[in-house]
Amino acid sequence: MTQDTPPACDGYVARILSTIEELNRLKDVDAILDKTLAAARALADAEAGSIFLVEDGRLAFRYVHNDVLFGGDGVSPAVYKSFTLPIDETSIVGYAAQTGKPLVIDDAYALPDSLPYRFNKSFDESTGFRTRSILTLPLKTFDARLVGVMQIINARGPDGASGPFDQEHRTYIPLFAQNAAVAIERGRMTRELILRMMRMAELRDPTETGAHVQRVGAFAAEIYHRWAMDRGLPPEEIRRFKDLLRIAAMLHDVGKVGVSDTIIKKPSRLSDDEFMLMKRHTVYGARLFADCHSDLDELCRDIALRHHEQWAGGGYPGRLDVLSDEHGPGLPMKGHEIPLAARITSLADVYDALASPRSYKEPWPEERVLEFIREKSGVQFDPEVVEAFFKVHDVLLAIRERFAETG
Ligand code: C2E
Ligand code: SIN
Ligand code: SIN
Ligand code: FE
Ligand code: FE
Repeated sequence: MTQDTPPACDGYVARILSTIEELNRLKDVDAILDKTLAAARALADAEAGSIFLVEDGRLAFRYVHNDVLFGGDGVSPAVYKSFTLPIDETSIVGYAAQTGKPLVIDDAYALPDSLPYRFNKSFDESTGFRTRSILTLPLKTFDARLVGVMQIINARGPDGASGPFDQEHRTYIPLFAQNAAVAIERGRMTRELILRMMRMAELRDPTETGAHVQRVGAFAAEIYHRWAMDRGLPPEEIRRFKDLLRIAAMLHDVGKVGVSDTIIKKPSRLSDDEFMLMKRHTVYGARLFADCHSDLDELCRDIALRHHEQWAGGGYPGRLDVLSDEHGPGLPMKGHEIPLAARITSLADVYDALASPRSYKEPWPEERVLEFIREKSGVQFDPEVVEAFFKVHDVLLAIRERFAETG
């Protein structure tokens, strides 16, 4: 069999096509936003960028990259910052959303006073970053629905100095943006679907709120990111696993739908018999994914079944046949026998449970929670996962603010 060499086609088009393919493989909306920004920035070698999504008729800040302020490896707490802007002419992103047209600015500090919008200097002033050129693109699907707005900031020329966006950037980045809009919309629908599924569990257990599951998903994703970077895993592998992990970790307790109300809502300690029935939530969760075979299904099953195992052994359910009705405990499971995704989600879940109110306990102060986690490193938790946890603790606090219980 012979393989034709593709014609040496325009570098931009080839890159855009392969990026669209990668985007279409991602499931989680945050992974899609991250990839979208990375790809759009790469087309112009731009220093920074951000994405706002339309939510309740406003533009909600949802993702940011900035090589100058927080480049290098890892994720900045700024990614989880939370604020919204109106869709109107007063801001640059609002203007692009309202008109539905791309906006090209060569120098943000030299805008004529006659324009309806103003450049908001507060970000530059508070960070020391210097915005120059801005390419602002409405993210619209093929049937012209506005999903959000992307800003790409400071195109770098061949000499590495930032300058205006050139004709090629202005042609190709919008082309890519339209495909990105479709992927983002799909990612948001996936997220909605999961939150709806969790609302069924929430009817049972009022602590399993959308905010709690989004926190646990985000904690797990960021702890994994640090763990994987520290081991030099390839960026594309990290992106893919992180994508699936965030979704699967959100579903860790979906099996609570199978446990009775009287147990879950009990406002005091559980008896041994009650706790034994509560432990079945791991098996019920795993059964939901029992005969599905995608990578995501397998990860969901691993996490649902194993998120209460303990590093040194002694967790539950242990080794047992998920489809049988034996109530365990199964033979103990420990260390690396527990899937990595479950070791990470276990810490993410307990961190959130300890720091939050429960029907049976008050929230613990942060210092006490951290002390507990340190103490249980190597006992309840994988020490390497604990290490990654402490390295991203500032990001985890930003996640707590972003997905606060009332927000
Ligand atoms: P959850 O409330 O989401 O807690 C998840 C995990 O966080 C717990 O798993 C445990 O490992 C940790 N955790 C939560 N609160 C505390 C605490 O005060 N001290 C310590 N050391 N760890 C804590 P676990 O124990 O396997 O419990 C699983 C689920 O069972 C809990 O999920 C909760 O829904 C229920 N549950 C556990 N104990 C009680 C209880 O005494 N009363 C009631 N009503 N429910 C309980
Ligand atoms: C912002 O980051 O505050 C939005 C910048 C703008 O479009 O004015
Ligand atoms: C590990 O167990 O530490 C890595 C292997 C894995 O579970 O992916
Ligand atoms: Fe659980
Ligand atoms: Fe939980």
